[in-house]
Amino acid sequence: MSATFRALLVEEVAGGKFERHVGARAMEDLPAGDVVVRVRFSALNYKDCLSATGHKGVTRRYPHTPGIDAAGEVVSSSASSVAVGSEVIVTGHDLGMNTAGGLAEYIRVPAGWVVPLPSGLTPREAMILGTAGLTAAQSVEAIQEGGIKADVGPILVTGATGGVGCLAVTLLAQAGYSVTGATGKGDRHGWLRELGAADVIVRDTILGPPDRPLLSGTWAGAVDTVGGAFLDAALRSSRRGGVVVACGLVASARLETNVYPFILRGVRLQGVDTAELSRAQRQRLWRKLAGVWRPATFDKIAHEIGLDDVSVWIGRMLAGQVVGRIVVKLGG
Ligand SMILES: NC(=O)c1ccc[n+]([C@@H]2O[C@H](COP(=O)([O-])OP(=O)(O)OC[C@H]3O[C@@H](n4cnc5c(N)ncnc54)[C@H](OP(=O)(O)O)[C@@H]3O)[C@@H](O)[C@H]2O)c1
Repeated sequence: MSATFRALLVEEVAGGKFERHVGARAMEDLPAGDVVVRVRFSALNYKDCLSATGHKGVTRRYPHTPGIDAAGEVVSSSASSVAVGSEVIVTGHDLGMNTAGGLAEYIRVPAGWVVPLPSGLTPREAMILGTAGLTAAQSVEAIQEGGIKADVGPILVTGATGGVGCLAVTLLAQAGYSVTGATGKGDRHGWLRELGAADVIVRDTILGPPDRPLLSGTWAGAVDTVGGAFLDAALRSSRRGGVVVACGLVASARLETNVYPFILRGVRLQGVDTAELSRAQRQRLWRKLAGVWRPATFDKIAHEIGLDDVSVWIGRMLAGQVVGRIVVKLGG
């Protein structure tokens, strides 16, 4: 194990500003924990961008290394449940929030956060999925558990070209649903159809007149990754008994809506929180993603970068310009 290693470092500088660069960290800089993982691959998530730009709702203390996703090999462990040399995944909990995260060559975490890499996935594939894959999988399960069968009607996915969005499109299409992807990217309609979307629409067309309590009942279900007016529109344009899954906030964290979708159409609003899933829940979802739900679209979805490229991609993600999943290769 090297004495120092490379990590993305975000520092708070004068005037409440935040700067980021790739720098050297020592093993002593890592927090206490049972397991040290040599990170082979990480990924860039929207939450990492918030952490990297000083969003105190995500990260309170700086200097800090973001990265809510990591996959690699255990190089030291004081826990009998985690063997040295085993390949593992760590996502969510406090990783990358107030615990130094996966955009670094090493992490040190509690054993309870560590999940074995399931057979059927490489560390790179696990990070193409990452937190976005777990979130998409939970969202699809919420629709299925809500009794929405594949032949009931179309499922709307907002932010469809984003990390969570493109994996939701993939998983829903593979499960037999007719998926409509709503996107702001006019040049990505063909790409979304390649992932399995039956239809692709310009995102603002779902909004409809804001003063109408209900819009035409179109969607049997929805996975909303953007929030705000889009979540409101998904609720108002759901069919009777529809299930709308709320999992994101890139447009807004605020929700202004009315009760008519609930009291006249029995629409159900289901939240998804991936960060605090239990170890058993994570393992179950990872096995599913490595097996029956394994995406057939890894090559289409992934864009691989190195640690030195992360900073520029943070800017692109915050500007809503990213397509698919940004997987970050660390070390050799
Ligand atoms: N609940 C959970 O446990 C959980 C887990 C993971 C992520 N999340 C949340 O899910 C959201 C998506 O995360 P991600 O990692 O997939 O982000 P991402 O890759 O940046 O995708 C977000 C997508 O949303 C669309 N978008 C961006 N800005 C927009 C705006 N102002 N108005 C409308 N649409 C906009 C864009 O897609 P188009 O160009 O195709 O429209 C963009 O690619 C984030 O809010 C994240 O925090 C929640």
